[in-house]
Formats: sequence, structure tokens, C-alpha cells
Amino acid sequence: MPALELEKGVVYYEQIFQEDKSFQRLQISSGTQTAAQFLHEGNYCANGFVPQHPWNNPNSEQLMPLTGNPLGLEIGMWLSVVQVPDEILKPFSELKQASSETHDLKVLQELARAPHIRPGIDAFMEYAKMYSMSTEQPIEGGGISLHPAGLETLAYDYKNNCFVGLHLDSWYKHALLNRPQSPNRICVNLGSELRYLLFINLPIPRILELVQDAAPENTEGRRIHVEFMNLYPNYPVVKLAIRPGEAYIAPTENIIHDGSSAGKEHLDVSLTFRGQFGFAGTIP
Ligand SMILES: [Fe+2]
Repeated sequence: MPALELEKGVVYYEQIFQEDKSFQRLQISSGTQTAAQFLHEGNYCANGFVPQHPWNNPNSEQLMPLTGNPLGLEIGMWLSVVQVPDEILKPFSELKQASSETHDLKVLQELARAPHIRPGIDAFMEYAKMYSMSTEQPIEGGGISLHPAGLETLAYDYKNNCFVGLHLDSWYKHALLNRPQSPNRICVNLGSELRYLLFINLPIPRILELVQDAAPENTEGRRIHVEFMNLYPNYPVVKLAIRPGEAYIAPTENIIHDGSSAGKEHLDVSLTFRGQFGFAGTIP
């Protein structure tokens, strides 16, 4: 299989002014590997894939296909990060504080059930509504996720008791070719340090095309993300850093992705809603 060059696909759009010029939002890996090849293998499900280390800062040539302006693009063709206002973050301040003081997830689970958290989640949903571009697409979700530090990937299969690895979300079950129109999600970092979104910058229709080019017998398109990472292990994964109080908006039904708490010291806390979210320039 010829090595596949980093190509333009789903683009990252920076809409937060970077005061800290040394802050690296994006990093790229040298590809993917099966979880079985990964030295610090956790309990991964069969066909679990994780990024292949090392992570590098992209040079300007590599940054070009990774970044762009989403104006005029379909909802599944861009991702971005927004700064959530302090007053929206306020109800979660105790959680944030505790995330840096304990490694006991139970303490945070307890705090996440405190009476003021529900109104806080509702207030975040109202804030997320400002980004909603559709009156028909309901805003759904609203669960707080808690994870230990140091996990390469976060998605977990509770039925089979294993980490899923890089995957594709399928809440809306759109056909693979229609994934660029699927709803996206907004996910805020409520913890006290950086957390990460890992993704492959190719939209699912392009992934399908590449898999069918290389393995035409795979026409039913099941587990397309696994096929892709099997066939193109050198295609890089992008790591997007999300600072405390920032939220990413990303088309997780159209990109191979996962969250990561690798490199963190403290517990990972996030809150997610699904919907049809736009970027600042498109908010009605
Ligand atoms: Fe996911």
C-alpha cells in the first residue's frame, strides 16, 4: 500500500485569539497502530486502534491541509474551539478544583450530582443553543464524563469491558456517504488542565473511497474506520489541545476520533451536547 500523504479534508478553524504564542493547539502522530502493538496497552477491544507515537508539531506545509475557514462548508467538514464564558463555567468550579486535588473518581462523581450542577448543565445548554443552526435538530446529551489521567483514548465499551480506541460515532446512523451532514457536538473541558481530541482529518466519504480503492471487496462499509487504519497505518492522527474552559465543536459522526487524557496529571472532566452547531461567523 503506497503511503498516503496528509490531504485536505476536515479543517480546523481557530477562532480564539492566541495570546500565548508558544501554545501548540495541533500536533500530529506518525500514524496509527493496533492497541496490541501499543506498549502501555490497556484493556482494548478487538480491533482497537490508537495513535502511533511520537507526536510532532506540524510544520507549515503540514498545517496547510489541517486548517481552513469553514465558511460555506458542510457541518461535518470543520471543527473549532470556542471559549466558554466564566459565568457558564461557574457552577462547575468545585468540580474543576477537586479534579486537581484528588485522583478518586468517586469524589468527582459525588460532586457531579450536587444540586447546583443540573442548573449549570441547563445553563451550558442555553449557551450551546447560541451556536445552534437548526430549530429542528434537538440539542441532546448533557452528561458529564469523568476519566482518570493518562488514558491514550477514552471511549469505553461497558458491555464488553474494553476501551474502543479510535472510532466513529453513530448516534444518528446516517449512511456513510451522508456523514458530512450528520449533527456534530460541543464538548467543554471542565477540568483543570489540557485535554485532547484525537482525530483523523478525512471525512467518512473519503475514508470509504480510500478503503474501496485499496480493498474493493469491502463494499458493505461496515467498521469502515477499522478497515482504514488497517490499510493506511501511516496516515497521521491529529491531536487538538483543549484548555480548561474551552469547548470543541466537532463532527464526530464524520471523523475517526477519540478523546485522550494521556499526559495529564489530573482527572479529566467534560460535558457534551450533540446538535447542529455552527461557528461564530454562522450563528444566526
Ligand atoms: Fe466518539
